[in-house]
This record gives sequence, C-alpha cells and structure tokens, in this order.
Amino acid sequence: MNPIDQYPQLDALFADAIARLDHAVRDRNAVMHAPVVVTADGDARIMVLRAADADLAALRFHTDGRSPKVATIAADARLTVLAYDPAARVQLRIAGTARVESAGPVADAAWAAASPLSRRCYLAEAGPGAVLDTAGSALPPDVRNHRPTLAQSEAGRGHFAVIMLRAERLDWLQLGRDGGTRAQFVRATDGWQGAWIAP
Ligand SMILES: Cc1cc2nc3c(=O)[nH]c(=O)nc-3n(C[C@H](O)[C@H](O)[C@H](O)COP(=O)(O)O)c2cc1C
Repeated sequence: MNPIDQYPQLDALFADAIARLDHAVRDRNAVMHAPVVVTADGDARIMVLRAADADLAALRFHTDGRSPKVATIAADARLTVLAYDPAARVQLRIAGTARVESAGPVADAAWAAASPLSRRCYLAEAGPGAVLDTAGSALPPDVRNHRPTLAQSEAGRGHFAVIMLRAERLDWLQLGRDGGTRAQFVRATDGWQGAWIAP
C-alpha cells in the first residue's frame, strides 16, 4: 500500500510543502521566496523561486547563462533546494535533477513576463563571477542607475536562462518541543511515496 494512502497525515505534509512553495512564488516577502540552491559541486547560493507545480516536476529559477552554476549543472544535473520558515520552524529539502534552457517556450515565456527592471541584470557586460577592474556592478553606465526601457532590456535576452528542477525527493522537517516531526517523500513510478522519518 502506498504509505501516503496509509497515513493521510503524510499526504497533508506533502500538500503543506506544495502550499509553502506556491506562496513563496507568489509573495516576494515570503520567507521561502529565495531559497538556497546547491549544485553537485557543493557550491550554494540564494536564488528566487519563480514557479512551483503541485507535482514538483518543474520548479523554475532564472539565471544568467554565463554564471558558473550553469556549466556545473550541465556537467552534473543534481540540484538541491533548501528553504526554511523560522516562524513555522519548517525546513524543506528538495533534491532532483535540473536542466538549463536558454531557448525554447519556457525560457521565452519567462523572459516575456519579466519586467524591464528584472531584465536589467542580464545587460551586464561581464557575467557573474568575472573579475572587474573596479568595485560595483558590470552594468553599462546608461542603465546602472536607471530602469531600462523595454527596448533596451531586450539586449539581455541572450544571457537569460531558466533552470528547471524535477524533484525526486522531498524532506519535510518541523522542529518542536516534542522532538519534532519529519517525513520524506520519494518520487516513484506510480507517484510520490512518503514515510515518517526520525527527525
Ligand atoms: C536575495 C538574492 C536573490 C538572488 N536571486 C538570484 C536568482 O534568482 N538567480 C540567480 O542566478 N542568482 C541570484 N542571486 C545571486 C546568486 O546568489 C549568486 O550570487 C549568483 O547567481 C552567482 O552564482 P554562481 O556563481 O553560483 O553561478 C541572488 C542573490 C540574492 C542575495
């Protein structure tokens, strides 16, 4: 029997995780809006979660195609997302495989929906991680302190990419005075399989 069917509360925990991620996408002030994203080389960085679906099959992040993490993901697709809600004391660990798309319908739609100000970082003359002669951004002077026009922002399209994560494992942990509660969900051929785990 599928443990999620056996223990309705496991089902509720999975739904709780989905609701938290959905809220994180919709509300830029949500505590899980910008989780830690860890690549297979062990490097970690904050990224804004742009989309999350109920099956955790297409978590979306935006990035600059020149950033080192893109090459890392191309070499090894494993990716982990770590988010924490301190008020609820809930930690989510989501692990799976990622792909980077700089062209195609998903990247095109994400770019089309991005505001000129959001697009501005992709106008940088040097990619993330490049060495600069002086402190500050690598943005061209004309947009450094200005919101680019929509037409100006189009020049950033070539640097824009989406990172799509298909989750294979979800770990839900809530700390509490009673010792806490933890559940782990693994993607199986017939859906998500959940189990209670010692915190
Ligand atoms: C609040 C916050 C939000 C960020 N959001 C993103 C993001 O959505 N995408 C991104 O590529 N980098 C984002 N960054 C920058 C990354 O943390 C990181 O510095 C940059 O992407 C270079 O990463 P890399 O060297 O690992 O490729 C954000 C940083 C902060 C502090």
